[in-house]
Amino acid sequence: MTTQFAGFSKLDREQRMNYIVENSSLTTDGKSEFEDYLAPVAEQQSLFSDMIENYIGNFPVPMGIVPHILINGESFMVPFVTEESSVVAAAAKAAKYWVTRGGFKAEVTSMTKKGQVHFTWNGNSDLLSKIFPEIRQIMFEATNLLTRNMRQRGGGITEIHLLNKTSQLPDYYQIDVSFETGDAMGANFINSCLEAIASVLLQVPELNSGDNRIEIIMSILSNYTPDCLVRCYVECPVKSLTDWHIKLNGNAFATKFKQAVDIANLDISRAVTHNKGILNGVDAVLLATGNDLRASAASVHAYASRDGRYKGLSKVQLSDEMFRYELELPLAVGTVGGISQIHPLVQKTLAILNYPDAGKLMMIAAAAGLASNFAAIASLITSGIQAGHMKMHLSNILCQLKLNHSERESAIIHFSGTNVSYAAVEDYISKIRGEQ
Ligand code: MEV
Repeated sequence: MTTQFAGFSKLDREQRMNYIVENSSLTTDGKSEFEDYLAPVAEQQSLFSDMIENYIGNFPVPMGIVPHILINGESFMVPFVTEESSVVAAAAKAAKYWVTRGGFKAEVTSMTKKGQVHFTWNGNSDLLSKIFPEIRQIMFEATNLLTRNMRQRGGGITEIHLLNKTSQLPDYYQIDVSFETGDAMGANFINSCLEAIASVLLQVPELNSGDNRIEIIMSILSNYTPDCLVRCYVECPVKSLTDWHIKLNGNAFATKFKQAVDIANLDISRAVTHNKGILNGVDAVLLATGNDLRASAASVHAYASRDGRYKGLSKVQLSDEMFRYELELPLAVGTVGGISQIHPLVQKTLAILNYPDAGKLMMIAAAAGLASNFAAIASLITSGIQAGHMKMHLSNILCQLKLNHSERESAIIHFSGTNVSYAAVEDYISKIRGEQ
């Protein structure tokens, strides 16, 4: 059983691993497997070991390429980092399908991010509102140095508002601040500005006299980014929606596709899975480009609930014999700063994408999401999802069972027309081994 241990962080990597072997089920062989995944060159390795605390090793996840996503007439080879088999194949199939139908159209409608200083004050709210315009000015001045570089790049603080929230929580107010952060995700920049703005509040004599004192509860960016929005769609005549699957003609495919998407709009059980299929593509691109998945996932799910009910994020329009499939996502991403300057491969994945700016990366991620989602729905309403998944699933099982070449070949042939499960493959392999 693991004992209480103080000072783990003071140990070096080797000592930490020894401690883990002594206090867990990890064996010394298991421990040495960690070494296989360390970077061979010391400088490369220290990029990883200095990235987080209590570091013990690297955890590789495969990267693949969706070779041709056409967005606004420009072709991209898009790196996907994902542990899930079929994600790359599905997105690549949908992206290829749409290349011949005009590709993806995308636009970024705005890139504003927000943060808030949350504080309490038990004084007269009319006084606060009255003197706030002057305080706002001081807040802009107090952040001038912090925002200078960002302003030179066309960004900075665009708005500062006082919000009275005392009807929701006694004495509670917010300073709601809007930011433009250019190609940076901007989390550190936003948080530094908010803390400077909070300290302005503490220095206003009228707000900090006698019993009426400002109490800063917290100053933090909001990961909800409904004003940092990308739209992406594909469109074609219904009659050209052929050849995804031989069983359905264009009309039948479009009608069934719309029904499947409408179901995601009215039923939460389906909506969550539908949106997960969108995130299969979005997250794979964000991970490959060193962006913060937790932030985008939190924002995307909140956005899916913006009408008070969780819904699917994509929608179908069928009109005038046209099929249009559209997705709107609040995505705050960066192509400079943060991990993009530290992780040894992020600059390389950005190079594969020809160094997009943040807006273009939003469009690429959205197109990857729509491609993944289109592939999922198109399969679900035709052959079912397992047909495609099972091919990759079989390949994973064959890897796990460490088969020789002829066993592998024979299993692939045998399971080409049969349901795949770990037990079924195991049984089949023991059978053919018994026959030899
Ligand atoms: C699997 O990773 C994703 C799907 O479940 C998405 C969907 O059901 O739409 C296939």
